[in-house]
Amino acid sequence: MNAPRLQGQYDWYLVRQMENFRNGTRGVEGDVYGRQMAQMARMLPDAQAVRDVVAYIQTLE
Ligand code: HEM
Repeated sequence: MNAPRLQGQYDWYLVRQMENFRNGTRGVEGDVYGRQMAQMARMLPDAQAVRDVVAYIQTLE
């Protein structure tokens, strides 16, 4: 689905990018795939949910 690899990325980087998708810094008009990701990111209810998902990703290595 054109999604990049996340395993192995720093936790602070993943949290920042999730917030970028959630607040509209990434995934804007014209970025077809990024907009799909932004929709996914906005399904997480709050910042704690973002941290929880990222904590899970950190267990995958
Ligand atoms: C809970 C599930 C998901 C998490 C935690 C997640 C997380 C992320 C993160 C952190 C990035 C940025 C990666 C980077 O900067 O290197 C990213 C990018 C991306 N994700 Fe997801 N993602 C999820 C689900 C999905 C789904 C379901 C799709 C497809 C519908 C998707 C499509 C994409 C795409 C296309 C990009 C690249 C966007 C661009 O080119 O700017 N993601 N994702």
